[in-house]
Amino acid sequence: MRKYLVSFFLSLAMLSSAQTVAYQPSPENLKARKDFSNSRFGIFLHWGLYSLFGQGEWYMTNQNIDNREYAKAAQAFYPHRFDAKAWVSAIKEAGARYICFTSRHHEGFSMWNTAQSSYNIMNTPYGKDIIRQLADECHRQDVKLHLYYSHLDWTREDYPVGRTGRGTGRDTGKADWKSYYDFMNRQLTELLTGYGEIGAIWFDGVWDHDGDSIPFDWQLAGQYELIHRLQPACLVGNNHHLTPFEGEDIQIFERDVPGENKAGLSGQAVSRLPLETCQTMNGMWGYKVKDQDYKSVSELIRLLARTSAKGANLLLNIGPQPDGTLPEAALQRLSGMGEWLKCYGPSIYETEAGGVGDGEKVVSTRNGKTLYLHVLNPEVAEISVSLPEKVKTAVDFRSRQKLKFRQKDGQLVIPVTVPENVPDYVLELKLS
Ligand code: GLC
Repeated sequence: MRKYLVSFFLSLAMLSSAQTVAYQPSPENLKARKDFSNSRFGIFLHWGLYSLFGQGEWYMTNQNIDNREYAKAAQAFYPHRFDAKAWVSAIKEAGARYICFTSRHHEGFSMWNTAQSSYNIMNTPYGKDIIRQLADECHRQDVKLHLYYSHLDWTREDYPVGRTGRGTGRDTGKADWKSYYDFMNRQLTELLTGYGEIGAIWFDGVWDHDGDSIPFDWQLAGQYELIHRLQPACLVGNNHHLTPFEGEDIQIFERDVPGENKAGLSGQAVSRLPLETCQTMNGMWGYKVKDQDYKSVSELIRLLARTSAKGANLLLNIGPQPDGTLPEAALQRLSGMGEWLKCYGPSIYETEAGGVGDGEKVVSTRNGKTLYLHVLNPEVAEISVSLPEKVKTAVDFRSRQKLKFRQKDGQLVIPVTVPENVPDYVLELKLS
């Protein structure tokens, strides 16, 4: 009896100590967070077998396709025009400072040479490790590589089926959480030990079990701990649409700037972690042959200004095509954004939320005593914002022309004439 009591109290003590040991980010991690925030702009790439079907990355579950039939696409995956250098160069030229690549999406196919599953890129006619090529090129060009990793899987039978992927022909009786969890952790270990520095692991799919009557235990703490042990500077982010969990280093918002919830996935409170908003260039993440509804360069620049003004990064998505190239429409957006950032970069990179403006027509970013006002609506004829700090000078960012302003009782008024065809008219203010 005594023995049992001792072990009972011992396990209680262990439980409570496990709960009280709060995650302490390492100095490398804190530095990586700062670098991440400073970079403000990244490109998301959704690429997997789904690109072959041209229907977006949810095709398999949306159409209830048997996973064995779907997997036949692997035997036709031959992106003969894939060129990691061309991708990374175009992305870098766009002014983006990191790439987030889908290592394994919900379909379950791994884009690297993994020993944990034969369902991977090496077993296609193409037969070359995509992540190896991307990682090498990113390191060469000094662009950070982040890896998206799906928590859910529509193909594996050991994954305990959740809300999605119910019609993909799996034997649900074979679910085995431990086997699946270990599989994920071994894959993450491969990614974090075989490809040099990985800037972040970007998880997605926790919401697959949010309808369960008994809360599903993803054992995230152990997984996050593994990541930080293997690469202390690697940032952990999770697109679970909730306020961040212990062990996460960044907070992700899907399709909305932090604090807004137009798309319906961002009701969660904004935390003090570095923030990131992911958004599509057209409407879909994975390549969708029918979706040519791309946002214009101007819209994307305004989106970048709006996310920066919230102190958040923009992770802008492109769905590469089956042949391995980026869609022409996306390349054109990249080059337009790059051109803009070459001039206006200082009003975006290394800035913080400006805290001034209405969030729509006029937003702001700041860097020390410099405040950047971004006029996003050409019809604005006069900026009138509350600003307690005293303004010393105000200039048109581009022309450096001085602008007249008046400031009284904490209200700043600047008459402006927004030049034509300017996506974002930027004013630079020096504060005292
Ligand atoms: C959603 C989708 C997924 C996509 C992700 C990107 O969670 O399920 O397909 O990869 O958003 O934000």
